[in-house]
Amino acid sequence: MTVETAAPLHVALIMDGNGRWASQRGLPRAAGHRAGVQALKRTVEGAADCGVGCLTVFGFSTENWRRPAEEVSDLMGLVRSYVVSDLKRLTKAGVRLKVLGRRQGLPADIADIIRRAEADTAHNDRFLLQVAFNYGAQADIADAARTLAEAGRPIDENALSQALSTGEGPPVDVIVRTSGERRLSNFLLWEAAYAELVFQDVLWPDYGPEPLRRAVEEFRARDRRYGGLPDTPATRVAV
Ligand code: IPE
Ligand code: IPE
Ligand code: MG
Repeated sequence: MTVETAAPLHVALIMDGNGRWASQRGLPRAAGHRAGVQALKRTVEGAADCGVGCLTVFGFSTENWRRPAEEVSDLMGLVRSYVVSDLKRLTKAGVRLKVLGRRQGLPADIADIIRRAEADTAHNDRFLLQVAFNYGAQADIADAARTLAEAGRPIDENALSQALSTGEGPPVDVIVRTSGERRLSNFLLWEAAYAELVFQDVLWPDYGPEPLRRAVEEFRARDRRYGGLPDTPATRVAV
């Protein structure tokens, strides 16, 4: 008999809606981003209880450099304070932190903070938190293909999957986007091949364990077929 197990899920989150949350309150966009960091902390804290073992969050896209310099600098400042202020707590909770995206182009001190945080948490294995920062899926795929080509290795689906910045982590089960927008905005394009997509109307600063639980519930009700017949349950089946 096969037993349906609720294996820990890999949930990817497009954290969208900080600006709208702020403008609804007559606040500057930076206030929305600050509230967004609190939402991220709440979500990470509650993720394991929602059956999630890996969270990949979109923090800054390769296209977000198009925003006004002041907003870009606010976002850089937040990643500094988030990583520095939360590192102890993350380490204590057994969280491994990995930052996806190009280091090139980031301020040197941020690249340094990221390097240290990844090294300090490298041995944690209770939970994997991947933060996509200066990340674009097209750039990531191009970088992976270039790495393989330069090493003279064959470029096939498996090799490319592993050479992506997400290559070490588990496969993405579900991509969630908040704020009601229904597009991927250059996030995890390759990994999205058979991921389920969930769109929630909640603005990111209002996010936390409860909306995540609802997203997981919606995911678990899906019928994942991978091109086969409709008998593969959304939760993985132990053999
Ligand atoms: C998401 O919120 C955070 C980042 C993209 C960095 P936005 O800043 O995109 O908020 P909206 O979409 O303008 O409401
Ligand atoms: C995607 O959101 C990037 C992040 C959430 C970090 P955007 O707000 O930048 O996406 P678009 O511009 O609405 O597509
Ligand atoms: Mg947005």
